[in-house]
Amino acid sequence: MYNIAKGMNEKEIDDYVDFVLKNMSLEDKVKQMVGNGINVKVLFDLGFGKRVYDAAGSEKYNIPPLKFTDGPRGVIIPGSTCFPVSMARGASWDVDLEERVGDVIGKEVRAHGGNLFGGVCINNLRHPSWGRAQETYGEDTFLIGELGAALVRGVQKHNVMATAKHFAANSIEKSRFKVNVKMDERTLREVYLPHFRRCVEVGCATVMSAYNKFRGKFCGHNDYLLRKILKDEWNFQGFVHSDWVYGVKDTLGGIIGGLDVEMPRAKYYKFKKIEEALQDGKISVSMIDQAAGRVMRTILRYTTKEDPQIYEPKLIGCDEHRQVALEAAEKCMVLLKNENDVLPLDKKKIVKLGIFGKLARIRNTGDHGSSNVNTKKVITPLKGIREYVGDNIEILYEDGRNVQNVKNTAKEVDAAIVFVGLTYKDEGEYIHELRIGGDRENLSLHKDHIELIKLIAEQNDNCIVVLIGGSAIVMEEWKNQVPAILMAWYSGMEGGKALAKIIFGEVNPSGKLPFTIPIDPKHLPFFKANIDEIEYGYYHGYTLFEKEGYEPAFPFGFGLSYTTFDYSNLQVDVNEGKIIANVDVNNVGTLAGDEIVQLYIGFENSQIERPLKLLKGFSRVSLKPNKKKNIKIEVPTKNLAWFNPKSKSWEVEKIKYTLFMGSSSKNEDLLSIQFNIEN
Ligand code: BGC
Repeated sequence: MYNIAKGMNEKEIDDYVDFVLKNMSLEDKVKQMVGNGINVKVLFDLGFGKRVYDAAGSEKYNIPPLKFTDGPRGVIIPGSTCFPVSMARGASWDVDLEERVGDVIGKEVRAHGGNLFGGVCINNLRHPSWGRAQETYGEDTFLIGELGAALVRGVQKHNVMATAKHFAANSIEKSRFKVNVKMDERTLREVYLPHFRRCVEVGCATVMSAYNKFRGKFCGHNDYLLRKILKDEWNFQGFVHSDWVYGVKDTLGGIIGGLDVEMPRAKYYKFKKIEEALQDGKISVSMIDQAAGRVMRTILRYTTKEDPQIYEPKLIGCDEHRQVALEAAEKCMVLLKNENDVLPLDKKKIVKLGIFGKLARIRNTGDHGSSNVNTKKVITPLKGIREYVGDNIEILYEDGRNVQNVKNTAKEVDAAIVFVGLTYKDEGEYIHELRIGGDRENLSLHKDHIELIKLIAEQNDNCIVVLIGGSAIVMEEWKNQVPAILMAWYSGMEGGKALAKIIFGEVNPSGKLPFTIPIDPKHLPFFKANIDEIEYGYYHGYTLFEKEGYEPAFPFGFGLSYTTFDYSNLQVDVNEGKIIANVDVNNVGTLAGDEIVQLYIGFENSQIERPLKLLKGFSRVSLKPNKKKNIKIEVPTKNLAWFNPKSKSWEVEKIKYTLFMGSSSKNEDLLSIQFNIEN
């Protein structure tokens, strides 16, 4: 009976876990509910994330332990493949690619000896100041949900349990341990939860509770979120583990709230404390059985599945995996401005190329918090461009400190590329012990970066600004003075190579913004880094801009290409619970390229207050010059529903809707057609 066999089916696993629960001591059950111990000091002394961290498991009953590692930029254990950050991958709008990123991550987790990947970060980007913006996919719940679900699918192919985090409403870094986030029920259901539900729908094995409070209760104690919504309504079968160290505040809160595992060590889920609570009748044995049962069942579901392959250490950071990181970097960069076709640069015409700014030559792959992938093998922009042009073009590099040198060089070169933006010092997970990261106080560039841009733009008409960062950067002070702007993000270990290919036109840029960039930060929702309580409203990002009639600097979904796509012949059909949309996309330019076709739905004569439109579908398409493709996107009618807080249910209004399809969220970039939903 203690034999665990590969290929056990769910029923066999359930029966086995029932048997274990009947026989296991209380102490051993409690062991299923805790990490196997890490002291915070040791964590930082040894260097966080250098190995997998154990939790749960029972030798006696043949239940393997959980072996946790983090992400989402890749597996954080040294040597792993370092991808562009999630926000960059959000800008690729490429579900298939994200699944392949997950596939690589899954393989590397296994090759490192892990089985639990804590890196599906899907919090909604309510405000670009959020320090951890780079770890999620954008400001729109549909986009986040599709990409998060793709990452889950990819990772779990390799029998690695994925964790969707941080559940829920976690999007202010500096106050993450204390802030109480309030919101009404529609906002919760329609804006802050659908992406989590999407990941649960595709079978995400585990969920990590957030540090913050939701409606007055810590998320790790929040029975409404954990028990009522996640476990009861969504029928989530896996287990919930806490965010680390500070995610549980007391024994009763966690157990009653529905938090199954305290990570990374037992503080409040110590056997003695749980035994006491049981003796006092404050919790029940069935609560312990449920939590331990969920953990053991989930572990067995993944560890008894046949593996699709063998996971040897040589897989970690291998060439094939780096290739996926390169593809992601190529597909994520967003061309925001390109006047007079300054880009791409012509390799045959440029004799001298100026590269400016410190950020051109540092390994800048994102923040230094729990998502930091430890690798030295990073192709910086300067290295990438140098290797790409070889001896054919003379590269003149200036870090920007010597103004006269900058001026002279800028004057002398045929084109000037300026690297400006952010590093882990400006934004990221706030690690108190190391005093790094945190939210951004200012959404503009640093003053010296702005001065550098202006200085160079005065000397050289071919001034190309490359922005590095994890979310929106306000550009009003300088954007009209330069002809070209490329958002290059923290683009991972292959970023410099991808950038060179884009600059010289070997790759046509195709990324589209996963968030709105404002002209004026005043147009964004209220944000304060150090705050005890905040109300999240229904609107942020493009829905807020459209509601208020604010003009963005660059709208959600926007991105240029070196070619031009023309949209025509939009059609819509409503049939058998689906809205079926078709549009012709034609590459009318001279270069091959990828277009991201976006589908939005507007609610014409709704009886309730709704956004002007919402993203409900998208598709990436590759087109050669003069080639046309018909793009079909289907939207299940149920996806048009709103959450009626009175009836506590999702309802599809029987009204007239507008379907928009095109190249960005801006109405001028969209074709539209109306349709009705009756009965
Ligand atoms: C972060 C989580 C992370 C955990 C373990 C926490 O501080 O908020 O995102 O998974 O540490 O590394």
